[in-house]
Parts: sequence; structure tokens; C-alpha cells
Amino acid sequence: MSQLEKPVQPVVSAKAGYQSGFANEFATEALPGALPVGRNSPQHAPYGLYAEQLSGAAFTAPRASNRRSWLYRIRPAAMHSPFVQIDKGLLRSSFDEVATPPNQLRWDPLPMPVAPTDFIDGLITVAGNGSPEAQSGCAIHLYAANQSMQDRFFYNADGELLIVPQQGRLEIRTELGLLELEPQEIAVIPRGVRFQVRLPDGAASGYVCENYGSLFRLPDLGVIGSNGLANPRDFLTPQAWYEDREGTFALVAKFSGNLWQAEMSHSPLDVVAWHGNFAPYKYDLRNFNTIGSISYDHPDPSIFLVLQAQSDTAGVDTIDFVIFPPRWLVAENTFRPPWFHRNIASEYMGLIDGVYDAKAEGFLPGGGSLHNCMSPHGPDVATFEKASRIDTSRPAKVEATMAFMIETRQIIRPTRFALETPALQRDYYRCWQDFRKHFSPEQA
Ligand SMILES: [Fe+2]
Repeated sequence: MSQLEKPVQPVVSAKAGYQSGFANEFATEALPGALPVGRNSPQHAPYGLYAEQLSGAAFTAPRASNRRSWLYRIRPAAMHSPFVQIDKGLLRSSFDEVATPPNQLRWDPLPMPVAPTDFIDGLITVAGNGSPEAQSGCAIHLYAANQSMQDRFFYNADGELLIVPQQGRLEIRTELGLLELEPQEIAVIPRGVRFQVRLPDGAASGYVCENYGSLFRLPDLGVIGSNGLANPRDFLTPQAWYEDREGTFALVAKFSGNLWQAEMSHSPLDVVAWHGNFAPYKYDLRNFNTIGSISYDHPDPSIFLVLQAQSDTAGVDTIDFVIFPPRWLVAENTFRPPWFHRNIASEYMGLIDGVYDAKAEGFLPGGGSLHNCMSPHGPDVATFEKASRIDTSRPAKVEATMAFMIETRQIIRPTRFALETPALQRDYYRCWQDFRKHFSPEQA
């Protein structure tokens, strides 16, 4: 059998259990009594486990932003062979390969690979800014995989990973437990946490935002009040789960922009109990509480903010993760789709499902668009003409859609791949070329 004919490996699903809340002080054990009581590092941890701290914030970070977890595991994480650098394929963490054009850019979805490809091999960087060394900025990757990771595990020292499935479910087995993920859900895997991705549906693709900066958090709600947008209790963090598996395993690390691989004689998913507030989580975007205008105009898209990574400047985030979910449009005497605009921030958009309400065609699920700092964009001609004619005395519902935007402070720089791939729509600009002149100085 050739490599191309290799069948997709069967996946044996373990059962995921969750704890509710955003960055709570969670406590969970897969065996009764595995969590030490009253101290983090007893002389002898229960069941002969090793105690280990995983720090996600500076030791001295203010209490409100201090993040760490204590892990109780079968063997210490340090038990692996030296790392050797391996090919990073189309993964990028620096963004000066090619000059960034101010053009509006849009891409078709990439094809599913034919060769056996797991989640790590299936990552392609399309754009980004900042750097892991500066601990600021992000990379935007696409993933497309047709193979589960079986004996290969991964961690990312460069940033936390916001995973946005577009097609196919993922079973993400992490050191801290199992996450089952389907399109319209997102997951965040913290920096350093080891995990593997299995594919219950045999093939999967989607988007990844790698956050080099401060950890994603829920935005403050200001005058909205104490509820709304993404509610904290809808975030789910796994319960402890472990496997006691010995054999020959590979641990792949993304570190300082490169991929490295070490050998291990056991599965690193051997954490029997843990407690703390630095852990993976998932969120169902369909639970988002969408708030909008009930009179006229519509608010800035920040009203759809799910998660933010803050910069050192108040109110200016390095990453805003925003969604455009199904919702009612009721604003009267108002142009209801997103308006024409130019923005100091830069905007990468992806489409998980359906049609985005500012574009009648050309923006496909699995595709992407990029409108950088001060590059003008907005509805296409067909959307403008239709929205200018509709009866705004009646509500309308935007249905069966889920788009998202990664909005950043810094310019989002496409990779060489992104500017050279045939998936780049070289005629995208045409969607704004056929606006008719309506202006008449004689007619108000
Ligand atoms: Fe925009």
C-alpha cells in the first residue's frame, strides 16, 4: 500500500468532562485523593506522583492576571531526549518575507492535503505581526489534516493557540484533559501545554490564531453591565484525564519560531490531577449574547468581542477576536450591513459557516480576507444596492452564518505563501469598482 493509500487511523474516543467558568481556580483529579490537600508540593505526593508548576504569567503579576497551575503527573515533564530542529514547512513566526501591500486581500479555502497530514504538519501560516521574542503580536495559520496524531505530541512555547474549526470535529487530548470540539466552537490551548489532535471525522480544517502577547481574557463590559457577550460560565475547561502509555513517542515543540523534536519513552499526557487557573478551555460561539442597536445605526464591531489580548496601552488590544453570529437587525432608516470604513486597526476575517452579510459572493467558508490599516473596504455593490432598498421598518434576521475577525493593533503581514498561492483572489478589488454615481447637486 502506498503512503497515499494509507487509511485514516481509527480514533478511540475518551470521554471528556468539563468544569465551567473562565480562568477559575479549578481543581480536578482523575483518581480519588490524587490532589494533595493543604499544600502544592508535599514531600510525597499521592499515588507516587510528581508535583510540577506550570506558570502562565510572571510570578509577580498582579493577582487578577496571575495564572499558574499545579500538575501531579506520573513522570516529570523534563524526562525527554534533547530536542533536534526539524522542518517547519510553511509555519512562520516572522513576517518580513515580502513587502505588505495596502491592497484588500481575499483568499479561497485551501484544498485538503492528499498525503497523510496531521494537525501539526497541516499548519500553514498566512499572516501575522509582532514576534514570539517580543511577546506581542500574533500569527494567523490555517490547518488542514487527514490523520490523527497517535504517537506525536506538541506544545507551543511561542504563544497560546486559539483554534477555530471550520470543517470536521477535533478531539484535543491535553495534559490537563480532553476537549471535544466541533465547528462553531473554539478552543484555547495555553503556551506550553502538551497536546495531540485526533480527528473523529477523518478530516478537519480551520483557523488558528497564535497569540504571542498577553493571555486572552474576557473584555470588560462597561455600561453593558454584569452580563452579556461571552458569558464566563459558558467557557469549559477539562477535568483531569491521563493515559499511562509507554513506548516510543515524539514531542514536537514550537520554540522561537522553529519546530523541534524530542523522543519520549512515555506519553506526556500523564497528569492524574491538577489545580489552578492556567488551563485549556473551549467555548461554543452559538452561546454568544449578541447586543446591537434597537433604534438606528449600529455600533462598532467591538460590540461582538469574544476575547481580547490587551497591550500595554489601555483600550488598544494586540488582538481582538470578534464574531458575526446570527442576529436580528432592527435599526430603522439605517444602512444595516457593515458600513464602508477605513480603520487604524488591521482586520483578518474568516468564515466558519454560511454567508457574511457584507459580501454577497466570493467570501467562502474556510476562506479569508485581510483589510490592513487604512485600507478602505465595506459592502460590495450587490450588498449595497440591496441594503439601500430594503424596508427598514421591518426586522430582518441574519441567519445560518458565523464569521469571525482577528483585529490587531499592528499591521497584519501576509507570508510569501499567502501572496503567491493560487487561492489568492486577484480580482477581489473588482467588487468595489462598479458603484454607480448617485450624487446630484440639484437633489438633496
Ligand atoms: Fe472592516
